[in-house]
Amino acid sequence: MSLAAVAVLNLDAVQHNLAKVRSCAPTAKIMAVIKANGYGHGMLRIAKALQNVDAFAVARVDEGIRLRKAGFTNRIAVLDGFACAEELDELLCYQLESVVHSLTQLDIFANTKSLKPSPQREGWVRADPTVWLKIDTGMNRLGFKPADFKAAYQRLSQCPIIKQPINLMTHFANADDINDGKTLKQISLFNETVTGFSGERSLANSAGILAWKQSLSDWVRPGVMLYGISPFPDSIGAQLGLKPVMALHSRLIAVKSIEVGDTVGYGGSWICEKPTTLGVVAIGYGDGYPRYAKVGTPVLVNGQRVSLIGRVSMDMITVDLGIQTDAKHGDPVTLWGEDLPVEEVAQWSDTIPYTLVCGVTQRVQLVEK
Ligand SMILES: Cc1ncc(COP(=O)(O)O)c(C=O)c1O
Repeated sequence: MSLAAVAVLNLDAVQHNLAKVRSCAPTAKIMAVIKANGYGHGMLRIAKALQNVDAFAVARVDEGIRLRKAGFTNRIAVLDGFACAEELDELLCYQLESVVHSLTQLDIFANTKSLKPSPQREGWVRADPTVWLKIDTGMNRLGFKPADFKAAYQRLSQCPIIKQPINLMTHFANADDINDGKTLKQISLFNETVTGFSGERSLANSAGILAWKQSLSDWVRPGVMLYGISPFPDSIGAQLGLKPVMALHSRLIAVKSIEVGDTVGYGGSWICEKPTTLGVVAIGYGDGYPRYAKVGTPVLVNGQRVSLIGRVSMDMITVDLGIQTDAKHGDPVTLWGEDLPVEEVAQWSDTIPYTLVCGVTQRVQLVEK
């Protein structure tokens, strides 16, 4: 019996969650966001489970190349685009689609005149790339301001190596807050800006798909909901008809009794107030369990809820086993999964569930259910 932590992945749940995307956006094409190693779930495995989507989205050119090298022939958009001429070259070699968000990228495109053969392409023929022109409607991260959109569009339209028409996209800043009017403002600004310009449109992330029908257009870009996680701070995936894909498990590696006045863990910040059966679990921030999980964070031991006590260390956490006084070395522990939503653990850790699943480290084996 291994005491190492494992993340068990339910790939049927990925298909279930994809069906939810389709039911919310029945006429839209789906660009499944599988960046950051498929939100920590293993990018190649998730890509395989999502073969039937219209495109994948990754953040970096390297991620797209990894998909190509693994044999994926699907459309792949690179959300951050390319950073330099060499990266554009790679993007073209591997037939990746680029988001274009900056003048620097426009200049690089303008200077890329001829298509030359590349040693890296491994059977891939170069083709004129599809591009996604990104408009910054209020996120103030990547994208052209509406006032600069027309000039950027015209430059891309005149670029001989780019497939026409250019696709158009924006990204929401506050869509996870259903009471915040900013999303409607972003939608209106986007629609006003692109009126009269041809090209497919894409606005909605998971929160847009679930809560902002006005944002559904030619393409949707679901990320977190595909993994069964709610994009909203006040709900869990199950309440939205989603199924969690990842369950993080480990085991008890020690059980002991502690007395009133004993302290637990680094800094001795937790002080025992009554005789307590303490369990030590083989999981820590070295595995991606959140360092800032508070005392009281729920953990399942033998399927029953117990509470985290003391500080999270690199390889271990400690729990108050409560009435489970007969718990023993090797007993199963779940840190999050179907019966303990990752959204709840994130709340206890003052973070968002995205960071928890993305943060699972290489030490944790990912296995399919
Ligand atoms: C441009 C863009 N679109 C879509 C997504 C997917 O967002 P979510 O995971 O909230 O659905 C992301 C994720 O960060 C993104 O950066």
